Amino acid sequence: MPTSWDKFQELVKAEMLKTFSPGMVEHSMNPRNIGHIEDANAFGRVTGPCGDTMSIWIKVENGVITNLSFLTDGCGTTIASGSMITELAKGKDISAAERIEQQDVLDALGGLPEENEHCALLASTTLKEAVRNYRDLEKGASG
Ligand code: FES
Repeated sequence: MPTSWDKFQELVKAEMLKTFSPGMVEHSMNPRNIGHIEDANAFGRVTGPCGDTMSIWIKVENGVITNLSFLTDGCGTTIASGSMITELAKGKDISAAERIEQQDVLDALGGLPEENEHCALLASTTLKEAVRNYRDLEKGASG
């Protein structure tokens, strides 16, 4: 039997669906890979022009991102973008992961309102930063 919390969630969801795509609503209400992973071997953190910050931790094994996670202090669209980019990057080699662009995140979410499109850019920029950090650490380890 649905609780009053369930009913509240349904109301929030219905309200959000008036403005946002189903993909955005799903990923903002049930974000994937949120938090930080203990055994990450690289990390990126970027603050966008709007003041929101995203952090991404990646675990790379044999050049492949086998696990990753994110945190952000941003709004629902930022959470959805972080969640989606972790889904897009998991299992990819680092070169493919750093080629994931803002538009890929937008497409995967089913689009965002124009004023929120920069949230997807923050996610792709933060992932690139994590990969750059990984490459730097690798260079340091081998050099
Ligand atoms: Fe600025 Fe989402 S509102 S990153």
